[in-house]
Amino acid sequence: MTRILKVDPDSPEEEAIREASSVIRRGGLVAFPTETVYGLGADSFNPSAVERIFRAKGRPPDNPLIVHIASAGDLDLVAADPPEEAYRVAERAWPGPLTIILKRRPGLPGVVSAGLPTVAVRMPAHRVALRLIEEAGTPIAAPSANLSGRPSPTRAEHVVRDLSGRVDLVLDGGETFFGVESTIIDVTRRPPVLLRPGPITLSQLREILGTEVLVAPEARGELWSERPLAPGMKYKHYSPQTELLLVEAGDYRDLGSYTKRVRGVVREARSRGYRVAVIASEETAEEYRGVADSVLVIGPRSDLLVVARRLFTTLRKVDEVGVDLCVVEGFPEEGIGLAIMNRLRKASARIVKT
Ligand code: TXA
Ligand code: MG
Repeated sequence: MTRILKVDPDSPEEEAIREASSVIRRGGLVAFPTETVYGLGADSFNPSAVERIFRAKGRPPDNPLIVHIASAGDLDLVAADPPEEAYRVAERAWPGPLTIILKRRPGLPGVVSAGLPTVAVRMPAHRVALRLIEEAGTPIAAPSANLSGRPSPTRAEHVVRDLSGRVDLVLDGGETFFGVESTIIDVTRRPPVLLRPGPITLSQLREILGTEVLVAPEARGELWSERPLAPGMKYKHYSPQTELLLVEAGDYRDLGSYTKRVRGVVREARSRGYRVAVIASEETAEEYRGVADSVLVIGPRSDLLVVARRLFTTLRKVDEVGVDLCVVEGFPEEGIGLAIMNRLRKASARIVKT
């Protein structure tokens, strides 16, 4: 049985926090809001509780979790001798959407890190998450609270849809702020490496660290597009049931010719009998009315923070419109745009470059 408790995201009710923290202390699972997406939390020092997370999500056992702490001082509970860079980024970005890869402290159960000698740590900027960790009195291991392969949850309804009956408690604190998962930086390597783009941007990291930051190939999400793909097969990442086709451009300055090419892709698919939806920006949505069977507006190109916030909700909506294919517009890879394109590439079965 999954209990759902509404909480005030700005000033969480103490009773709800007490109840949730006692579930964590007893080795149970609590889904809770953060500023990025909802997390599926368990006591990181209780190996069987952590194993329950993997089972509830259907998560491959070799995919490590992020440990959430409520104060930077608790870093030493889970990590071993953090380098100076760790303190520098933590001081500027915590609490906030940045996860730091460090050496794992031997006392932290290896299952949290899927056996790796490293650990991913972050201090979230959300009152519900922080109060829950404090009250539980233990760092909380939490991946995103979706079924493995589904879009990450930005609302409690998404969590309930995916995990009802598989978790003990869902704290419903409304819609999350950023809508994409935290940026991940590995400071065990020199220079540091960006592993996953997120709300803290590459240029912010370079500025904070005053050094070069390398970008791991998978950070752009492109490794997926290089894999050969059997027809109808989908990558199991952030994906709706409906097949996604991402149309990328070298740049998006000439929206007139870009949308013309996207319309061409839509018409081609429809001529083969597919019902086709388009996920488009506010600026371009009109270009597809009457061309596609359905148009979903993801947000304004002029404010990519809004596009990020609505990204996963929009991907979940695709399955409700009843089409065979969904063509998705691309966005410039600047600022949070890199995080948006990483998620869209991973979610897409096919990528067309125009
Ligand atoms: O915003 C977020 O980060 C959310 C909220 C709940 O905090 N969490 C989240 O967790 O996105 P998850 O499990 O969906 O993504 C964690 C990512 C995975 O890609 C995993 O491979 C990586 O972090 N990761 C975890 N530990 C790692 C490690 N030791 N080395 C490299 N990557 C690691
Ligand atoms: Mg996830």
